[in-house]
Amino acid sequence: MLYPLLIKPLLFSFSPEKAHKLAIDAARLGLAMPLLGSLMKDNYGRFSKDDIHTIMGLSFKNRVGLAAGFDKDGKYLDVMQCMGFGHIEVGTVTPKPQKGNPQPRLFRLPQDEALINRMGFNNDGVRALVRRLEHMEERDFILGGNIGKNKDTSNIEAVKDYLSNLKQLHHLVDYFVVNISSPNTPGLRDLQEKEPLRKLLSELQSANHGFLQHKPILLKIAPDLNDQQLADIAEIVNETRLNGVIATNTTVDRSRLKTDPATLQEIGAGGLSGRPLRAESLQILKKTRSYLGSDKVIIGVGGILSAGDAAEKIESGADLVQIYTGFIYRGPGFVRQINKQLSRLKQTR
Ligand SMILES: Cc1cc2nc3c(=O)[nH]c(=O)nc-3n(C[C@H](O)[C@H](O)[C@H](O)COP(=O)(O)O)c2cc1C
Repeated sequence: MLYPLLIKPLLFSFSPEKAHKLAIDAARLGLAMPLLGSLMKDNYGRFSKDDIHTIMGLSFKNRVGLAAGFDKDGKYLDVMQCMGFGHIEVGTVTPKPQKGNPQPRLFRLPQDEALINRMGFNNDGVRALVRRLEHMEERDFILGGNIGKNKDTSNIEAVKDYLSNLKQLHHLVDYFVVNISSPNTPGLRDLQEKEPLRKLLSELQSANHGFLQHKPILLKIAPDLNDQQLADIAEIVNETRLNGVIATNTTVDRSRLKTDPATLQEIGAGGLSGRPLRAESLQILKKTRSYLGSDKVIIGVGGILSAGDAAEKIESGADLVQIYTGFIYRGPGFVRQINKQLSRLKQTR
């Protein structure tokens, strides 16, 4: 109740990037206070032992995760772990630090319960992330590492960037996500084409198998793929023995929006997330499940704004779900709300 009535209106009075930092700083402060801290942990972090799911050989305390991009640099893991997430995905990280696109680059579309972003992989670089993760205290969530390439690395050289990230993070994360689907790094989505994708994934997989303990690898895909592209991707995921797919990243499609065209024009380029992405993302999830078969893992993300949306993804073939925009619009209690609904669902697969 506190979030929709008080906290959200206050946060939404600041620019989205400022609000992001403010919210985390405030939560960190609250958690440090003895009484408030234990109240928050108890309220947000409670989960039932029945929610535990073993997927890719990893034990997830529940099926709700924080999607990539929220904590690109692993700076907020102490706070986010108190919100009850079963898994948290850091990144997208690139080998070299990069500033990303100039601000403003993140926009709210309140009428649509959506966001448009063109962050452009702003991050401190993989070395900084490694340092932070090495100093992290005990954690009770599964940690994913979402990897990408620097903007000034050509697609021909891209494999080197992904390999460098994978090798440096290998001992620190529980699973990897190969991000070739962000619309905000020029040309990145071309890596979804058959030949570059096959090369990228097979080189990553062979580096992964060079380690004593292999880590699960997932591919994060765009929602703007046609059936042929999706079938080709599924074929390569199977061929390279990836563990599965994250469906989906943000969309470049703006046809379902209530926000007026002039505002959209003023905002300019960027990927759309939140409610308008739900249907498109769900379609891709269903098709991906049918192309991949039942063995592979799918994490469903895109447009989860209610607990019912999350249940719909699980019922459509997802093993786990992730949220980003819904977390901004609904607040920290949303994680627990989804968990409650999901624990009522029977095991679907
Ligand atoms: C501000 C912002 C930054 C994002 N950054 C990344 C990123 O770095 N890597 C990535 O794979 N996805 C990124 N995403 C995409 C989300 O992880 C997610 O796939 C997408 O937003 C759809 O989920 P949602 O509708 O719940 O937000 C970003 C999304 C937003 C809104």
